[in-house]
Amino acid sequence: MSPTTRDPDRFTALSAELGICFGGDYNPEQWPREVWAQDVELMREAGVNLVTVGVFSWARIEPAPGAREFAWLDEVLELLHGAGIAVDLATPTASPPAWLGIRHPETLPVDLDGVRLVAGSRNQFTPASRVYRAHALAITRDLAARYAQHPAVRMWHVGNEYGQLDYGDEAAREFRRWLRERYGSIEAVNDAWATAFWSQHYAGFDEIVPPRRMPYIANPAQAVDFRRYSSDQLRACYRELRDAIRDAGAAQPITTNFMGFFAHVDYRSWAGEVDVIADDQYPDPASATAPADIALVQDLMRSLGGGRPWLLMEQSVSATSWRGHNLPKSPARARRDSLQAVARGADGVCFFQWRQSRAGAERFHSAMVPHAGADTDVFRGIVRQGADLARLRPVVGSRVQAPAAILFDWPSWWASDEPALPTDRLDTVTEITRWYRALWRRGIAADIVAPAGDLIGRGLVLVPHSYILEPDAAAALAAAVDAGAQLVVGPFSGVADGNGHILAGRSPAPLRELLGVSGEEWCALPDVRISTTPAWRPGAAYAASILGERLRSDGAEVLACHATGPLQGLPVLTRQRRGAGAAWYLGAVVDDGLLDAVIGEAATGIDGALPGLRVLPDGLEAVRRGDALFLLNHSDDPVKVPVPHGLVDLLADEQAAGEETGTVVALGPGDVRVLIERQDR
Ligand code: GAL
Repeated sequence: MSPTTRDPDRFTALSAELGICFGGDYNPEQWPREVWAQDVELMREAGVNLVTVGVFSWARIEPAPGAREFAWLDEVLELLHGAGIAVDLATPTASPPAWLGIRHPETLPVDLDGVRLVAGSRNQFTPASRVYRAHALAITRDLAARYAQHPAVRMWHVGNEYGQLDYGDEAAREFRRWLRERYGSIEAVNDAWATAFWSQHYAGFDEIVPPRRMPYIANPAQAVDFRRYSSDQLRACYRELRDAIRDAGAAQPITTNFMGFFAHVDYRSWAGEVDVIADDQYPDPASATAPADIALVQDLMRSLGGGRPWLLMEQSVSATSWRGHNLPKSPARARRDSLQAVARGADGVCFFQWRQSRAGAERFHSAMVPHAGADTDVFRGIVRQGADLARLRPVVGSRVQAPAAILFDWPSWWASDEPALPTDRLDTVTEITRWYRALWRRGIAADIVAPAGDLIGRGLVLVPHSYILEPDAAAALAAAVDAGAQLVVGPFSGVADGNGHILAGRSPAPLRELLGVSGEEWCALPDVRISTTPAWRPGAAYAASILGERLRSDGAEVLACHATGPLQGLPVLTRQRRGAGAAWYLGAVVDDGLLDAVIGEAATGIDGALPGLRVLPDGLEAVRRGDALFLLNHSDDPVKVPVPHGLVDLLADEQAAGEETGTVVALGPGDVRVLIERQDR
């Protein structure tokens, strides 16, 4: 195997040794030495076993061009190692020192309006800048040469939350190079971008610029290619630092932190570049749907890693400070959030950050050790979490089996996010999130899959909104239905090809035969009513809004129609049985009630994590991971649920451990149970 390819076994070996990884970002450069010793003592008290060091330490290591100050880092690593705490050593490359931008202004990013950004915050770098890249590489090489064999270093963390867009001249040069590689000739670019429109034809690559501020609407194909380029350019930054670390002989897992459904980076195209998928998650405590919504992100992360355990790299202990209004989390909520990630396949839960900063932009962001110190509910909660996670060692390495699949890919999201569509109110991720909630309520985990992946054997396949759908993706859907899947397709899917050109013919062109229904016009909708037909739930009333389609059935059963509005009387919900399965179509953005009814019925043959219950009590989450059944009560009410006989709770205290829970388990508000068959432990 080449030394730079992904090797998930590196993380498997680490978690097999440490158990569930538990810790956070540790920024000792913000603190005097005396505090370091206290930190390590408190980390031991809390059972912390992994900390990320050095993420923003470039100016400390290289205070002047070419300088190297590693002595403090040597000391920090020795201290941590002496305490048995593993280090995830970060390249400091996300935040270059001020001198770099002053000496080399072209390393500073340029925004859409041509404004060059300045140092004083973080992330002030142009991914396309050769000078930035050379400096980042030089410091990474020296860091890796010094610490690749250091016994404290058990993981490497490259950069931080790669995600910036840059529109400057450096980007223009690299965008042109990227286009040359993708298309080969300028004529191929003209074809892909359909530049006959508005006299946009390019005679040569040197005429092309990034989609900067324009007088009117930009070419959508150009805009989507610029997003592809931007994601690839950031990946190139990541890759060269990762390779430098490997070249220095580092054998540890190397990764970087993702940000869930983040719009500027196609994580699917990055997933093969990291040894372990790592993600930062900050669900808003103010959102009632946060538990289900973050579960979707966790399912995405697990799916990106092919089902292997992933790592929750950052989350907040209590409040964040970057929202307008930052609600705190109770210690119980923080515990539940961590356990939820483990339930959905994480073998590590870490926080931003270990010790709360007293100054700087994040002085009000919570941390494991708050300003008030260790004599706090927050820190006691962290100690409790450490103990809980240590008990979950038996689940390390195990997998979540997901019977459902949801189609999602970044380029389709990007193309449907461009302006000048029938509506700007339809968002891919919002729709996926709404659809997913119907699965979550039933304890059904989902893999979030790429179009055209193999879907055979999936009982349920959801396509909430796949604007771009290529013929191979449509063929995979048809094959899944033939093999027995219930497929549910949502509106404005199968609209365009990979270049964003609209597919000709009645819509949705690649799916109309499979669905047995076709349309002639997309219609933005006011709020309208929908009524079911006698064929399905007669008398039920639902609503739709945002977008519908002037549809006719070409053979599918019509289950519901528009009762009011511009499409009154026309079908909105259809189903066509085919092979061993069925293809459902929702030809409008429908309300949560109808979504839940359709997905619930399509999921009839599928067992959730609690097969005895078709729908879980409100706020209860149930997930099966390996042999363990995770139950998380996110509600403020107690719940009781039937569970298989003879399970024990891994989280219960000494006395209760080993006692049978019976066939009904009661969870108080906020409680979590991790039930597993009694083993002679
Ligand atoms: C993340 C970032 C951390 C910290 C955190 C605060 O985006 O990686 O460095 O800023 O947010 O929530």
